[in-house]
Amino acid sequence: MLVKTVTKAVIPAAGLGTRFLPITKSMPKEMIPVVHKPVIHYVVEEAYLSGIKDILIITGKGKRAIEDYFDLDKNASGNEMIHSLDEILGRINIYYTRQKGVRGLGDAIGHAGAFAGGDPFAVLLGDTITIPPCTMALGSIYEKHGKSVIAVEKVPRDMIQNYGIVATSDDTRKDAFVIDDLIEKPVPEHAPSDLAILGSYLLTPEIFDCLREVTPDRKGEIQLTDALRILARKETVLGHVFNGRRLDIGNKIDWLKANIELALADPELGPHVEEFIRRLCP
Ligand code: UTP
Repeated sequence: MLVKTVTKAVIPAAGLGTRFLPITKSMPKEMIPVVHKPVIHYVVEEAYLSGIKDILIITGKGKRAIEDYFDLDKNASGNEMIHSLDEILGRINIYYTRQKGVRGLGDAIGHAGAFAGGDPFAVLLGDTITIPPCTMALGSIYEKHGKSVIAVEKVPRDMIQNYGIVATSDDTRKDAFVIDDLIEKPVPEHAPSDLAILGSYLLTPEIFDCLREVTPDRKGEIQLTDALRILARKETVLGHVFNGRRLDIGNKIDWLKANIELALADPELGPHVEEFIRRLCP
């Protein structure tokens, strides 16, 4: 078995962001700021810190601001944040392709076949931040076992129906465990576990054949979970329990929480924000 080093990542960012209307009428959800930079900036940083060299961002209608953002900006060389972004941009390649119609996460990933070119690749959602970077852990597991890896996290029972849930008979739940099946949004009584797919993946190129086999759901969308289900029947798919923090920026309350958490963690802003919160909630 030839196991390659993971140097490619796909960032799907073509979704409509309807939960952020009216903001997303004129700006991509992935460009919404969290404290002082757009969420997709954190995602690209995570990929870079995980050893990724080539990134494909899947864009679509109304998403051109993302491409502008990742241009090198020679005119603002005095700005420290632009300087650190430009340093990253100097070390990685970012490519773009447009999803032809918003037809689900699986369909978006299906646009990455030529980019992957037979190599394994990481998937990081354009609206999700993980602390510490989850992709790094997935890359190490892939490089050890040569199998696709899906990051999961334990969720409370009443949240189970909002997620894709994995089934496993491997109760050791070590660093990497074998996934037997995946079930999209089960009712808690019928859920095979409390381990929810969190949106970070390390995929082998076999996923593209599986995506072609998926039948669109009732909304006409191709779901990545359905393709992963097919993949898990054909070959070993591993799960990894991520014990860090996942900040999903795709809905308003979690976006607000992410702003507060990351502002509190910022050495410059943190003390001011803490004092402000204490004043608001004495
Ligand atoms: P979401 O389902 O959270 O994003 O997809 P959404 O569809 O934009 O959100 P709402 O429900 O309308 O508010 C997770 C990630 O997958 C991308 C999104 O851009 C987001 O980063 N995505 C989703 C695509 O690239 N294409 C799709 O067809 C769907």
